[in-house]
Formats: sequence, C-alpha cells, structure tokens
Amino acid sequence: MNYQLLGRSGLRVSELCLGTMTFGTDWGWGADKHESFKIFDAYADAGGNFIDTANRYTEGSSEKYVGEFIESDRDHWVLSTKFTLKDRNDDLNFAGNHRKNMMRSVLSSLKRLNTEYIDLLWVHLWDNTTPVEEVMRGLDDLVSRGLVHYIGISDTPAWVVSQANTIADFRGWNAFAAIQFEYSLLQRTPERDLIPMAKALDLAVTPWGTIGGGALTGKYLRDETGRVPKDSTRRNKNSSKVAQTVVDIANELDATPAQIAINWARQREEVMIPIIGASKSTQLTDSLGCLSFEIPAEQMRKLNEVSQIELGFPHEFLKSDGVKEETFGGMYEKLHNHRIKS
Ligand SMILES: NC(=O)c1ccc[n+]([C@@H]2O[C@H](COP(=O)([O-])OP(=O)(O)OC[C@H]3O[C@@H](n4cnc5c(N)ncnc54)[C@H](OP(=O)(O)O)[C@@H]3O)[C@@H](O)[C@H]2O)c1
Repeated sequence: MNYQLLGRSGLRVSELCLGTMTFGTDWGWGADKHESFKIFDAYADAGGNFIDTANRYTEGSSEKYVGEFIESDRDHWVLSTKFTLKDRNDDLNFAGNHRKNMMRSVLSSLKRLNTEYIDLLWVHLWDNTTPVEEVMRGLDDLVSRGLVHYIGISDTPAWVVSQANTIADFRGWNAFAAIQFEYSLLQRTPERDLIPMAKALDLAVTPWGTIGGGALTGKYLRDETGRVPKDSTRRNKNSSKVAQTVVDIANELDATPAQIAINWARQREEVMIPIIGASKSTQLTDSLGCLSFEIPAEQMRKLNEVSQIELGFPHEFLKSDGVKEETFGGMYEKLHNHRIKS
C-alpha cells in the first residue's frame, strides 16, 4: 500500500480506505462480527490505515466493531466517522447538520467507538437548512476542543462546499480537507463540478460505490444474489452493458471485475482514494489485488467510452468551437498549456 496526503493537510492516509457499512447484520445484509474482523484484518495486513464508518451504519454496530478492532493500536489508525443522519425516530433535533445534533452525535460516536478523538469527521450529507456559517463554526469548535482533528464533507453540491471553504478560510476556521461522493463507471456525474472543484480546492476525494454496490462485478449478469435491489438503475440495460465491458476487460487482463472497476476510478482521476466495501473477507482480498497492476491505455479508452456521459451546460458550451474561437481570439490551437480538455 502507498500513502497520500489528505488534501491540503499533512495527514498521511493509505491509497485505499476501508468502508465499514457492511460491518453488522442489523440491516438484513452485511457481515457478522467474526467476518467483519476478517475483513478488517485483511485490510490491516495489506498496510491500510484509513477507516470509514458513520453514526448510522448498521444502527451503531459498525462504529462499535470498528472501535473494538482498532482499540489495541488506536493511534495508528486514521479513523473517520460521520454525523447528520438521525439517531432517534420522531425527534427533529436528533438529525441534521445544526450545532445541537453535531455535538450530540459526535459525543455518541466517541462512546460507541470507545475513543477520545475522531481523526476525520464527515458531514454525511447536506441538510439544505442549516446555514453554512453554523456548520463551519461548529466543526471548528470540535477541532479546537481536540475531539476531531480534520473535517470533510460528503454528498453535497459543489457550490456549497466551495462557499463553506471560502468562508472558513477568510474567518480562520478549519476548512474541509476531503470530500466523499458516489463515483464509478455507473456514476460519472461528479465529473461535471465536484471533481474539478476538488482539484481546484485541493480536497482529497474518497469516492464510494466504485464497484456499483457489486453491480460492476457482473454478478447480476449471471443472476447471482447481492444487495442491489432488482429494480435498481444499477441493473438496467445500460449498466449491464458497462458491467459486461468490465467483465470482458477483466478476462483480457487476467484481473477481476472489482479490480478493474476500482482501478478505473483511481486512474481516471489521480486524486482518488476509493472507499472499498465488502461483505466478505474474500471480496476484500480480491479488491486489494487492484494495487498490483494498472489498466493499459487501450482498455481505459474502452471503459471511458462505454460509460461516457454528457457534461451538460455550461461545460459543453464552453468547450464548443464557437466559444473557443471567441475567447482565444482565434488562436486556441496555439496555446499549449490550456486547461480545457477536449
Ligand atoms: N458517504 C456516503 O453517503 C456513502 C454511501 C455509501 C457508502 N459509503 C461508504 O463507502 C463504502 C463502500 O460503498 P458501497 O458498499 O456502497 O459500494 P461498493 O464498494 O461499490 O460496493 C461494495 C459491495 O460490492 C460487493 N463486492 C465488493 N467487493 C466485491 C468483490 N471483490 N467481488 C464481488 N462483489 C464484491 C459487496 O456486496 P454484495 O456481496 O452484496 O454483492 C460489497 O458490499 C461503504 O462501506 C461506506 O463506508 C458512503
């Protein structure tokens, strides 16, 4: 395993993060405690140091298991968890990004994780109600109190993240060092704004769903079981075509489909630190095999082509010949270091 800096911080994290949404069977799928430990152990053995969990995962079992597994060497681990999602039914203030829920949720997570600090706290998703200043100031307080070391944000529009980090910078508060969103051969829409923003603001990107929740392994082409529901868009005609291409290329390269799906994301955008999920330790061992090879250019081209999306306005408009002609005084071809990719 190699290591990367977490965005514009000095924190060193492994090039793959371990997802633990599958730790615990409380949601009707996932791994029991014994199997969860085997997954964790395989990841630790490979040199991974970066763990992703959340207050809500498997009704708290994920955080409890993770806390137990890392206890003997707590300071080695870069432990990340999230807040936002509800911890109690029928109570408005036990959910959301406001200060009251933020503080309560973090204290509950610390108890479940049996630790005194969280290395990286994620806003799980944007609640569309709490003011940006309230969120950033609350997070800054948590860092000042030593309960949290770094902050990140997940599942949020690019304009909100840009606004949040700009406000934090100008006020001398801690800014987000990392961002999470779904990104895979089946979900490339972050290429429109989220990825360019992450590069511009030097945010580490830890994408989830890089294997399409299992769909990109081709298991649904063979009618095998898994947790992706029958009516999911991950099982439609277009995703089947993408999954079939992944399977074909895996066969061609003597690799497995999960390895191809993960490496596509890593090679497509060099800022990616995928969060790898597994419901069995054998799956994780398989996925870790992605570390030992790269997808050659020709196969990358085929994968890019089959999963291509429209970037939409204004991106397509700004790349059009007419606009390039007007904005570069008719000399676009002469400018060699331009940033607009065709
Ligand atoms: N921020 C967020 O909103 C958010 C959302 C979702 C997830 N996450 C994080 O990201 C992690 C991964 O997300 P994800 O589980 O949705 O996506 P994923 O990594 O695309 O899918 C993981 C699932 O694919 C299957 N799988 C994994 N490796 C395999 C292999 N080698 N061969 C065959 N099947 C394999 C397993 O499901 P089956 O055995 O059922 O097929 C596994 O649970 C989570 O654990 C969590 O930490 C964050």
